[in-house]
Amino acid sequence: MRASELRSIDEAQLSDGTRVLLRLDLNIPCRNGVVQNDYRIKRVFPTLRKLAKSRCRTTILSHLGADVGETLRPVFEYLKKSFSISFAPDLASGEQQAALISDGNFLLIENIRRESGEMENDETFAKRLSTLGHLYINDAFAVSHRAHASVVGVSKFLPSFAGFLVLDEVRELSISFDPPRPALFILGGAKFETKLPLLLKFLDRYDRAFVGGALANDIFKARGVVIGSSLVSTHALNLKVISERTNLRTPLDFVVQRGERHFIAEALGVSEGDRIVDSGPKTGEFLHELVNQSKFVLWNGPLGEYQKGFAAHTEELAKIIADGAAHSIVGGGDTITAIEKLGLFDRFGFVSTGGGAMLEFLANETLVGLEVLKKS
Ligand code: 3PG
Repeated sequence: MRASELRSIDEAQLSDGTRVLLRLDLNIPCRNGVVQNDYRIKRVFPTLRKLAKSRCRTTILSHLGADVGETLRPVFEYLKKSFSISFAPDLASGEQQAALISDGNFLLIENIRRESGEMENDETFAKRLSTLGHLYINDAFAVSHRAHASVVGVSKFLPSFAGFLVLDEVRELSISFDPPRPALFILGGAKFETKLPLLLKFLDRYDRAFVGGALANDIFKARGVVIGSSLVSTHALNLKVISERTNLRTPLDFVVQRGERHFIAEALGVSEGDRIVDSGPKTGEFLHELVNQSKFVLWNGPLGEYQKGFAAHTEELAKIIADGAAHSIVGGGDTITAIEKLGLFDRFGFVSTGGGAMLEFLANETLVGLEVLKKS
């Protein structure tokens, strides 16, 4: 898919009083009622500004968190600082308030996943949502892989358009399908069962692919190397398909945890009972070389157990890519946390807001929520 295949927000007839139903992905970490990380919110500001400037009356839908009990109120408090916006605690009160929005103003409705019908993509529910707008704009790239009513179903009932963030994501991520060469793909994190087709695709297309994080544990295990109690996929995997690829690269050393102790070891230095928690310094040097030999780098996923504090080599990689000359496209929750923490956001070619959506777009070159925005 190319961005030019999508109906753009610029083609939507937006004027005084146009009622817009806007799907955003405002799924961001909040603690004690306060937004902890605003990268996804800031990225939809261009669309919000355009709608405010066009004096539209906009109702915003989003989900938040894995638990449907989580609230969007902290996000509302954040948005209030920049936009004229009110908050509806549920869909029913949102429907009443939507009729009262003034020109140029916004209404944010509470976590839409609390409503039954949303995640089932129920048609009656989608039709109900569609009464909130004259037209629908999806600027929620990060949830566009979900066939939910506010992402997919609603577009059956309203003229539907892609917002500026969605257009940016599609335009930038599409560069990775035919990148400048040599091209390097770096894939980390866990869950090989979902990432294997993606890896195979990029092993075919790219000059080199480096696999780190828990994915590399699976590869070492398949090679018969002892990896102790390191994190591996819970699914049976046939990794033979990648073992013969000559352009596959894996870590040269690791940070290993043995009881309370941590030490650096190469593959043969890991014993039963040890746990690999990060890649090691030799791997860092190796990645430095690989990145510097490349004109294009695509990176998703950490090199270690990032959320447990084993962040050093993921952060080192972020610095290596930021300092390098290659055009870079990066994404994934922990990857972005690392980039943010180091203040390196502006030093990458493109930082995707998508986690699962980015991986699925890279694998399939489209998403279910984008298909419904295509020009006919
Ligand atoms: C994400 O954070 O990846 C998106 O908001 C999608 O969330 P989900 O995995 O809960 O659908």
